[in-house]
Parts: sequence; C-alpha cells; structure tokens
Amino acid sequence: MSAPRQNWQSKLGFILAASGSAIGLGNIVFFSSNAYQYGGGAFYLPYFIALFLLGMPMMMVEFGMGTITHQSLPLALRRLAGKRGEYLGWWAIASALFITMYYVAILGWALGMMLGALGSLFEPGIAAPFTPIQEPTAAPNATVYFFNMISTWNPLIYIVVIWLANLFILRQGTKTIEAAVRIFVPLMWAFMIILVIRGITLEGGMDGVLYLFTPDLGGISQPGVWKGAFSQMFFSLSLGLGTMTAYASYLPKDADQVNNSMLVSFLNCSFEYLAGVAIFSLLFVFALNPAGTTLSLSFFVIPQGINELSSLPWVVRLFGFGFYLLVVLAGLTSSISLIEAPASALIDKFRISRGRALAIIAIPSVIGSCLFALPRIIDPGLSGDGTLGLTLLDITDHWVFNYSLLAVGLFEAIIAGWVFGADKLRAALNQHAKVKLGKWFEYLVKYVIPLVLLLVIVFSLIAEWPELYGSSYDMPGYGWLASFIPVFWIFFTLIFAYVLTRRQTREI
Ligand code: PHE
Repeated sequence: MSAPRQNWQSKLGFILAASGSAIGLGNIVFFSSNAYQYGGGAFYLPYFIALFLLGMPMMMVEFGMGTITHQSLPLALRRLAGKRGEYLGWWAIASALFITMYYVAILGWALGMMLGALGSLFEPGIAAPFTPIQEPTAAPNATVYFFNMISTWNPLIYIVVIWLANLFILRQGTKTIEAAVRIFVPLMWAFMIILVIRGITLEGGMDGVLYLFTPDLGGISQPGVWKGAFSQMFFSLSLGLGTMTAYASYLPKDADQVNNSMLVSFLNCSFEYLAGVAIFSLLFVFALNPAGTTLSLSFFVIPQGINELSSLPWVVRLFGFGFYLLVVLAGLTSSISLIEAPASALIDKFRISRGRALAIIAIPSVIGSCLFALPRIIDPGLSGDGTLGLTLLDITDHWVFNYSLLAVGLFEAIIAGWVFGADKLRAALNQHAKVKLGKWFEYLVKYVIPLVLLLVIVFSLIAEWPELYGSSYDMPGYGWLASFIPVFWIFFTLIFAYVLTRRQTREI
C-alpha cells in the first residue's frame, strides 16, 4: 500500500513551495497589524534582528532535520532524540491542526470579501445586527459588511470551498503542490507589486513608508515589542509546526539547506516589507486608524482605503477583488503546507495512503474550521468579537500563535543543539553548503536561541497576569470560553501527542 517517498521535481519547485508556505496571511494580515500595534519603526528593528538571530538559523535546523532524516517532524525528531523527540513532534502537529482550522476560516472570510468586492462591499446602505452598527450606512463600510457577513451562515460555504481547494492541491503530494505554487506564487508577487506601486504613487503615500522604516529606538526598550517580533517571525517563516521539515524531507540528501534557508527567509521578509509598504501608504494617505483586533486591518481598514482609491466604481471593485484574491492565493499556498505537515507525518508513521491521511485530517478539521465561523451573536455590543465563531478564533489564536510555535522552537533547538549535537548538525549542513556556517551557529542553537525563546515565553506568560485573555469581553453566558479554550488546547494537544507517540511505527 505504501508508495515510495516522494520528491520535489526541481529545486525551484521546492523554493516556490517553501516560500509560498512562508508568505501568507502572516505577511499581509498579521505583520502590518503587529507593526502598527508596536509602533512602525519600533517594530521593524527587533523584527530584523529576530530574522538573523532566530528565524534563519531555526529554518536551517528545521530544513536540516528534514534532509538528514528524510522524515516528517515527529519521526525526524524521534531519530534525533528518541520517543521524547517524537512526542514533541506530534505536539507540534496537533498545534498545526488548530492553526489550520482557523487559518482556513480566515481564508473563507477573505473569499467572502473577494466575492463581496463584486457584490455590495463597496456599496452603501448595509446594516449589521450589532448595537453600534445597526443603522444602514450612508457610505460603503467594510466593517459593517464584514460583521454582516459573519453573522450569516454563508462563510461556512466559503470555508468548505477553501478546504476542497486545499485537498485538491494536496491530492498527489509534491507533484500537485508544485504545479499549484508555480502559478500561485508568481501571481501573488505580481499582485503585491501592483499594490505597492499604487500605494507609493498616491500623494502622501511615502509618509506611511517612512513611518514603517524610520527606526524608533525608544520603542525597542519595551519587552512587548520583542515578544511580538519573535512570535511574528516564527509564524511568518512557518516554523515550529512541522511544515518546513516535511517540505525539506522531500529533497535529496545533498540539498544546500544553508542557501535554501537564506533564500526562503529573504523572499518571505521582502514580501512582508512590500506588504507593509502597500498597506502603510494606504493608511497614511487616507488617515485610517487600524486599531482593533489583528483582523481589523485587512478586513475593515484596507477595503476602506481601496474604496477611496478612485471615483470609478469598477476600479475600486477591481482593486478590492485583487487584494482579496491576493490574500486567498497567499493563504492557500500556506494552508497546504499546514495540512501537509500532519499528512506526511501520518503517512510516514502508519504507511497509509495519502488519500486516507488527508481524509483523517480533513474530516475533523473541516468541522473545526466551521466552528470558527459560527454566526451566533454572543456579544452584540462588540466589546469583543461579536459572534461565537470569531470569539473562538480570537482566543484560540491568542494562545496557539503566541505559545505553541515558540515552545516547539525552544525544544527543537535543545534537541538539535544538545541531544543531536550542534556540531554534528553544523557539519551535516556544511557538507553540501556553498557558504559554510561558522562556529557561531553552534552557539546560537545551543545557547542563544533556547535562552531567548525561554525568556520570551516566560515574559509573555507573566504578561497574561492577572486577567485571562478574553475575559473582559462582555458575552453573557459565554464568559467561560476565556478559560475553557486554553485548557482544552493544552489537554487536547498533550493527549494527542501521547497517543500518537505510543502507537507502533510501521516499518517498510
Ligand atoms: N507562514 C504562514 C504565513 O505567514 C503561516 C504558516 C505558519 C504556515 C506555520 C505554515 C506553518 O501566513
């Protein structure tokens, strides 16, 4: 039943797939709102440092594990560190499943907005069933449109469509992934470049760019900025969830992973800064205020800016449609990698067919994604997120985004640096590398990265105190969600990892 392990057809295919994984909602939706929240120039310096200190070296570790073992994360870690390693791998996979579920839900909404651009998103006169925005609007208003949309059942259809698209792309593994990224990745670069050109040629657009790129040395003394930069870096580079190891495991042994890591990180961060330029120029030109949750920027504020780009309705619609198409394409090339991580892990461990592995993952996950789109209104005053689905998403994202990736990274660095041996890893990476890694790499993996990640995690946990995230939302009858979600997440993932580690691995 088991097919031989698959391979990428070309190095280009791998680079497109890995950079497609890295470039996603994180670059467009999360980066800009984080950068704004932490004050533009105050964010980009820590972010830049995070790239060299943490991002690139950890990508080398994850890519390296993939090519050294030719296994996806759980079994790769098992080779390096025995059962405890495998346990960590499955824990990462469990978190990847959580992230996939809500990531796809966000993509579903993006698809809804994309269709809305052709429908009534840019038209006045809509109303949402929430207290502050109940009156029909006199001008087009994306916030109202969005809340109106998420309080209907329509997004469930969009979510199922996005899931089907993912499964379609993943159906033959690397072969179909490669075919998709060859089209999607160049397309999303093209769309982004058009947006950037439009943004900076607007009068005053450069002010936003200056805001983003003028270093603010005052801001970097705040520990919160560093925490934000480090978690954003991990998420943006698709680290800590098993995706990069799975993708790298399909490469031949002699792949130059030092070079690949530098290339993928460079492509990812360039795209991110381009997105920052496009978005910040819009914000400044139209004096828009992106305060609110992570999603507000892309779902409320950017369409507001797009609406003012031109007095011609068709130009506005075209840009709106193009922007959300960009989000959907970038998101799809990431969500396929999020799903490939558990799929390849199941295939490697149990030698089941790809179709079966995808079905095992998809059936519960589609239901999970749909939970994040439940339209039940639990907070009509919008003190929090309004609907049950969005509240579930916001609280889950808070815990999984901020903690699981960094925790996995911490233990991966310990395993790679101390159990497997940073010297051995460096030697293995250098064997096929044109640019050789110096001794510094070993210090980074053994000391600096674990220490920095530990500090960030401890600091973030302390900052949670005394009020549990989400407990200030005014949601009568649903206040328990704030504590239930983190507890459920911890227990579910720990038990999931335990059960899968204990199961027998099927040898070929
Ligand atoms: N890097 C992706 C993004 O920026 C998200 C992602 C995280 C994908 C982890 C895979 C693994 O949107």
